[in-house]
Amino acid sequence: MEFVKNFLTGIEANYSVNPWIFVIIYILSIVPCWMSIYFIIKYSAKRNIGGLILWIIILIFFLYTPYIYVYYFGENIPKSVHLYIILIILITSALSIVNLFHKGKIKNSSRFWNIYATVYDSISSLLPYQQVLDDIINKIKENNQTNIKLLDAGCGTGNFEKKYIDRCNGNDSIFAIDNSTTMLRRANRKLKISPCVNFKRVNLNDHLDFNTEQFNVIVSNNVLYDIDNPLSFLNECKKVLTTNGIIVLSTPHDENKVLPVLIEHFKIINEKKLIKKIILYLNFLLNAIPLLIVSFMNLYITIGSVTNKHKFFKKTEITELFNLAGFNIVDISRVYADQNWLIVAKKKNI
Ligand SMILES: C[S@@+](CC[C@H](N)C(=O)[O-])C[C@H]1O[C@@H](n2cnc3c(N)ncnc32)[C@H](O)[C@@H]1O
Repeated sequence: MEFVKNFLTGIEANYSVNPWIFVIIYILSIVPCWMSIYFIIKYSAKRNIGGLILWIIILIFFLYTPYIYVYYFGENIPKSVHLYIILIILITSALSIVNLFHKGKIKNSSRFWNIYATVYDSISSLLPYQQVLDDIINKIKENNQTNIKLLDAGCGTGNFEKKYIDRCNGNDSIFAIDNSTTMLRRANRKLKISPCVNFKRVNLNDHLDFNTEQFNVIVSNNVLYDIDNPLSFLNECKKVLTTNGIIVLSTPHDENKVLPVLIEHFKIINEKKLIKKIILYLNFLLNAIPLLIVSFMNLYITIGSVTNKHKFFKKTEITELFNLAGFNIVDISRVYADQNWLIVAKKKNI
């Protein structure tokens, strides 16, 4: 007891902060620290330097978390914290250089998505995300497609399929494709006994190896920005889409931000009845740490938009793109707390 008391008094005296808040933050950061250590060991064994760099950064961030509180509300940040930061820069720079020499330019985005897959499903706890999936399904319904042959380009962990599956009739079928093996593994696990869904590993930067006009519906949510050549991807979609088929695609616009999605999430929660509200708040808390990691990953994607690796489109650009690929846009609106375009398009009649 005496030790704890001395520890708390020491924190208060040294950093002029509330020692209890410091200790709570410290305790909360223990689990993600161990999780990071687990992934560091895993990626070291696999010699996956990209994953290793990411988890080292995450580990050092969580080691540093209690001092963020001191930084903003107290004083006398310990010298070791500055050492952490220098350490981060040195380790990640060294590993990045090794990576460049070993593998050439880091181009294999499936590695990034394999790491993202480990925390991706926390996004499905966000109500605006669920809303986008509903919006896509509504667009399919509005267009009265029957005998659905659907292609989900970039299916991730199969959240769309999970939502859509109940609507599948006897002859309907879904081809859900993605380039990330980890995403696909999770999707397969989620939809174990669904005869109408087929998952397949496909790189959307390549030609789509399906029959001409094989699908009457193509959906793609939050994928286009990561495709090397969006125009040739849309051309491929056109090739495998039937004459009267539709493509329903959602992708972030050029001014998208992360915060509005969270604000919208809490706005929707607050409109719910008390019990539902409590469940949703608890669910958010359970997902808080993976969601924090997700925001790191999204930061990487946003940085990629500056270097042009990822593309966020203005309205004129996306309409031009569909037009060039030979589509007529039937409808374009904003979804996902106003952060994404939702485009419904059909093939032009030649
Ligand atoms: C943000 S996730 C969206 C997943 C899913 N559509 C959803 O709504 O949850 C982006 C997905 O696109 C996939 N992806 C990115 N580039 C790809 C490519 N070139 N070929 C195939 N899949 C790709 C990633 O593996 C990832 O699963």
